[in-house]
Amino acid sequence: MVKYLITGGAGFIGSSLAEALLSTGERVRILDDFSSGRRQNLEGLPGHFELVEGSIVDPVTVARAIKGIEVVFHEAAIPSVARSVENPEASVLAGVQGTTVVLNAARHAGVRRVIFAASSSAYGNTPTLPKVETMPSFPLSPYAVSKFACEQLVRVFASLYGIETVSLRYFNVFGPRQDPGSEYAAVIPKFITAAIRQQRPTIFGDGEQTRDFCFIDNTVSANLLAASTPNKLSGEVVNVACAERTSLNQLLRILGDVAIATGAVPANARLEADYKPTRQGDVRDSLADISAAQKLFNYQVKVRIREGLERTFAAFRTFTPVVTG
Ligand SMILES: NC(=O)c1ccc[n+]([C@@H]2O[C@H](COP(=O)([O-])OP(=O)(O)OC[C@H]3O[C@@H](n4cnc5c(N)ncnc54)[C@H](O)[C@@H]3O)[C@@H](O)[C@H]2O)c1
Repeated sequence: MVKYLITGGAGFIGSSLAEALLSTGERVRILDDFSSGRRQNLEGLPGHFELVEGSIVDPVTVARAIKGIEVVFHEAAIPSVARSVENPEASVLAGVQGTTVVLNAARHAGVRRVIFAASSSAYGNTPTLPKVETMPSFPLSPYAVSKFACEQLVRVFASLYGIETVSLRYFNVFGPRQDPGSEYAAVIPKFITAAIRQQRPTIFGDGEQTRDFCFIDNTVSANLLAASTPNKLSGEVVNVACAERTSLNQLLRILGDVAIATGAVPANARLEADYKPTRQGDVRDSLADISAAQKLFNYQVKVRIREGLERTFAAFRTFTPVVTG
């Protein structure tokens, strides 16, 4: 029997989670509309998985995908602040409506647990660091508002209908399957691609903004722990990150070092950025307190930023065509 459904399973985080589950012999079903997910993320997954192609906003498709499932990892969303600023309706539709459809289908299908991919963007620009889950939220973009609203739905479904739920507030996740190609790509895949091609990446702002970058293995591990903990989950919101912050300028320096150390670029190559004005909706600083996740399901950081960057760089290097000049 298939025990796990991953919505957004063709995406970066969803397919990494699928890989981890399949490699331990679990059976997995994936629901994805391939709006930002990639078929290549599903190629070579280690084991049998079922694929339902369709949208989480369609109750009929979701009911079909969720049949017989015990645990749902709900990753599907339009995962970009910038895209939500451009197209708020689409972002909120996939976020709030899609999550309501998934939760409601889970309720009717007798799903035991739903684990929701929430986002640190819900905090907004609160100046206090580290960010603790008890702080008031002040989201700055439709994406962040949508993620915050979804957390409330996730909590309410636990209290109204008795489904076990939890929201994992991911901070900036990075790793090998992340898409560098989109104009909305996250900063690390963009920087790595630029380093390999010896081009100048763009930094919006002065580069001193900080993020709590979290290697994908940590995020996957948090999901697996949340799925398997014997503790009852009742809609809690917990940060999932590394509790370490790095500025974009520091990130650039580390990646420059990694590129030289691996021989990907000459020893005298310098990775320098083009600086552009700050983007609307972006937060200045981000750093997580991760004690709630430690307490709730014994979350521990497995891979720190430097090792994560080395592993991501190595993976990107194998498939990034070098274009110089
Ligand atoms: N990557 C991060 O740093 C980060 C940080 C915080 C939260 N998150 C959240 O984690 C989740 C996964 O993000 P990701 O980085 O893997 O992004 P991704 O774009 O790689 O994955 C999202 C997946 O959802 C699918 N999808 C989108 N709309 C859908 C719909 N209506 N129906 C079915 N499938 C749909 C996409 O095709 C894609 O496969 C998202 O909910 C995102 O908001 C990510």
